[in-house]
Amino acid sequence: MARKKVVAINGSPHVGIGNTDQMIQMLAAGLEARGVDLEQIHLAGKNIGYCIGCALCLDKGKCWQNDDYNPIIEKILAADGVILASPVYVMQVTGQMKTFLDRSLPYGHKPRDSWKPGLTLSVSAGMAETEVADYLSRCLRIFGAFPVGAFTAIAVTPGAFMGKDAVTQRADDLARDLAQAIERGQRYPATDRDLFFWQFMGRLVRESREVMNDDFEHWNKLGLYEGFESYVKQSAAPPLADAKTRRQWMSAVIAEHKRATVKGG
Ligand SMILES: Cc1cc2nc3c(=O)[nH]c(=O)nc-3n(C[C@H](O)[C@H](O)[C@H](O)COP(=O)(O)O)c2cc1C
Repeated sequence: MARKKVVAINGSPHVGIGNTDQMIQMLAAGLEARGVDLEQIHLAGKNIGYCIGCALCLDKGKCWQNDDYNPIIEKILAADGVILASPVYVMQVTGQMKTFLDRSLPYGHKPRDSWKPGLTLSVSAGMAETEVADYLSRCLRIFGAFPVGAFTAIAVTPGAFMGKDAVTQRADDLARDLAQAIERGQRYPATDRDLFFWQFMGRLVRESREVMNDDFEHWNKLGLYEGFESYVKQSAAPPLADAKTRRQWMSAVIAEHKRATVKGG
């Protein structure tokens, strides 16, 4: 059987010696030990043009700019797991990462049905790395991935991680979680973000279908308008439907509360 593969996108300009790079290497070691390969792609040095906001991609499904973006997105979509990684630059991701994400608009309105596991990673000198990791977690959806966790650290100069042992341990824990999720085809519980995205984006795409033609076709083809459950591929348990069962349940809750209160008092 072919080995599973994770693709990590690194937005730091510090190739090789950077902290982001070092943290990805820590994850790579944990993944390799569990039979999963990791390919790191440095955005630095790639020829990826800015999004110019023409929005042609929403109609045609692809950007007209023919540069290094396309081979990267093909690798991400084919991967079993995705890592988005960036150091904090002025309280956000680096320009390299932001340019890459902006160019991903043709995928951003099209929820994929892969629900593959992913991780996000960010490092700072001490301000905003958790925010940036959270932002990247929200962006994972663009690539059909959901967050298994966020790997963050504080380090000002290369390799000078605060609490190095804790950072190394965290890398191993997250690598284990990611490898397991890939191995088991594990899906994490749906969240309020999934619900909001489905409601917001479904409406936007339907109402703008004249310009978002390709997006609208995608939603219809995957049956995403059939309902939230069909989008997240998870079912809600049936509610306590009949009045008699509900009354019995409420009486039991009240009786238990009275019993506990009397006992406690
Ligand atoms: C242009 C620039 C902006 C930065 N902005 C922040 C910031 O807003 N908050 C912070 O804590 N660190 C900031 N830093 C520090 C880096 O996030 C930190 O040194 C990080 O470890 C670099 O990771 P790297 O080696 O992977 O590039 C900035 C560094 C640079 C060069």
